[in-house]
Amino acid sequence: MTELRLTQPDDLHVHFRDGDYLATTVPATARQFARAIAMPNLAPAVTTLEAITAYRQRIMAQVPAGVPFQPLMTLYLTDHTEPALILEGARQGLIHGCKLYPAGATTHSHEGVTDIRYLDAVLQAMSDSKIPLLLHGEVTDPAIDVFDREARFIDKVLTPLLLRFPALKIILEHITTEEAVQCVQQGPATLAATITPHHLLLNRNDLLVGSIKPHYYCLPILKRAQHQQALIKAAISGNPKFFLGTDSAPHVIHKKESSHGCAGIYSAHAAIEFYAEVFEQYQALSRLEGFSSHFGADFYGLPRNTKQIILEQEDWEVPAVLSFGNDSLKPFWAGQTLRWRLRHDG
Ligand code: NCD
Ligand code: ZN
Ligand code: ZN
Repeated sequence: MTELRLTQPDDLHVHFRDGDYLATTVPATARQFARAIAMPNLAPAVTTLEAITAYRQRIMAQVPAGVPFQPLMTLYLTDHTEPALILEGARQGLIHGCKLYPAGATTHSHEGVTDIRYLDAVLQAMSDSKIPLLLHGEVTDPAIDVFDREARFIDKVLTPLLLRFPALKIILEHITTEEAVQCVQQGPATLAATITPHHLLLNRNDLLVGSIKPHYYCLPILKRAQHQQALIKAAISGNPKFFLGTDSAPHVIHKKESSHGCAGIYSAHAAIEFYAEVFEQYQALSRLEGFSSHFGADFYGLPRNTKQIILEQEDWEVPAVLSFGNDSLKPFWAGQTLRWRLRHDG
């Protein structure tokens, strides 16, 4: 096969950042995807409807002319979020999801939630207005090993939550473990998960063996190969509870190559190509369209896209570095070859 046609995909988890960075991130995503769920972990966090509207406008200002890209906005939950805000945001069609960052779990999460029990009324409002809850699924207890934080979150937070809010749509974001795959497979129809390209292409040996690779550092951290295999199996299975969310999360080079390197991997420059690489390796290209273009839209209750994109089989080398505001960025797979390339006139 030398050409692959797909319904245009959606990215159900992306960090566009803000300011000058939007000139890099927004066109990269809009080139491939029809829509993207825009994460709200700016500094300060996007916690009001006014902030969502303004952020949406800043993103839209960077969409190249003639490209019908739609950012889908999210609200950052805090201990003090009011249920009335959710109801109003839903009524206006402004909020597509509410993001729960356990306070301290990841980049720009310090304004996040310290105890999910504070959110009962908010979660009820979300459930009533059919707004999905997007979870960064890791506990923050310092006593819990960093490699165990997702599995612990499933037991301590997610399982009770599913019982308490049976009608609430929940997406366990950027899953990294066999435990997460099983939980989603066995859980109710209201539960789904996004899977990133880096968790499909890498495991913790890639991060740590021989030398430490700061550009492979992300949260939840890469796990052992057995977990990577479970994620690949889930992604290529055709089960509609698993869908595309890149978690493309750029940081300038000096913040990655640092004594306190930031978590996050930028993959928006070649997102769909990364997934094609994995699906081809496992003889599952025929399942790529469901994962990338149907299942996420279906779960969010959005119409499926009607435009198509074309991927061509053509080896190409990912650039070593990209410009990023006044600085630079090391893209995922820098200097390495990919087998599929998005055709521009697709
Ligand atoms: C993300 C970021 O940099 O905003 N980092 C990451 O490692 N995934 C935050 C997140 O999605 O947890
Ligand atoms: Zn996260
Ligand atoms: Zn993220």
